[in-house]
Amino acid sequence: MNIILLGAPGAGKGTQATKISERYGLPHISTGDIFRANIKNGTEIGKLAKSYIDAGKLVPDEVTCAIVKDRLTWDDVAKGYLLDGFPRNLFQAEELDKFAKIDAVVNINIDFALLMDRLCGRRVCKECGESYHVSTLGGKTTCERCGGELYQRKDDNPETVKSRLEVYEAQTAPLIEYYTKKGIILNFTGTEAPAEVLFAEIAKVLDEKMGL
Ligand code: AP5
Ligand code: MG
Repeated sequence: MNIILLGAPGAGKGTQATKISERYGLPHISTGDIFRANIKNGTEIGKLAKSYIDAGKLVPDEVTCAIVKDRLTWDDVAKGYLLDGFPRNLFQAEELDKFAKIDAVVNINIDFALLMDRLCGRRVCKECGESYHVSTLGGKTTCERCGGELYQRKDDNPETVKSRLEVYEAQTAPLIEYYTKKGIILNFTGTEAPAEVLFAEIAKVLDEKMGL
């Protein structure tokens, strides 16, 4: 099954993607993670993407679409995949339709008031990518899962988060209507409840869709 995860910055796409990916054995393809890996490795794509990401703007469509188009030719997507953070505007959605067949869009709706604190307090493991909130770490600086060092994403600061949320409203939110019209959207509400609660709701619906 080919699935898109849609939602505002901080809605919990990455958190849910890890769980969905584990349960259904689908590769998790996050354009944000791909760009961050490129930045870390100092590639040309990384150099280009960095200025956009640091400003909370979208990386140009040609670059992003080419990356995803190539990624969807890998062998591991034969039984399906999970796209996290792509598409992010109507152009990308229309491009994706030219080279992929999407079965379901998991849309996480969330109250924007929750997001600034979630993102500015987020700490991410350098090794395995697990996310934490600083309020629950009790001063710890390493990952509970793998012991890796925790860091703060450079775009998780108030000014950049504001810009990311504006970009989401203007460019990404219209995709809800786009996929509603196609009849493949599955709507969920992200809350302050633990991520496992939302995951149980998502898994129930996906299990049914997959006939499990
Ligand atoms: P990207 O990496 O995709 O970032 P984003 O969309 O801004 O979303 P985040 O990763 O910040 O949040 P998330 O929804 O994954 O939430 P998470 O699970 O971590 O993109 C970064 C940048 O790359 C973009 O700004 C853009 O520049 C560029 N880019 C990427 N894709 C692009 C594209 N297609 N086109 C152009 N440019 C692109 O959760 C957030 C926090 O909340 C965590 O701390 C987590 O622990 C916590 N949390 C999660 N769920 C819960 C819960 N239920 N209760 C309490 N806390 C929770
Ligand atoms: Mg993410």
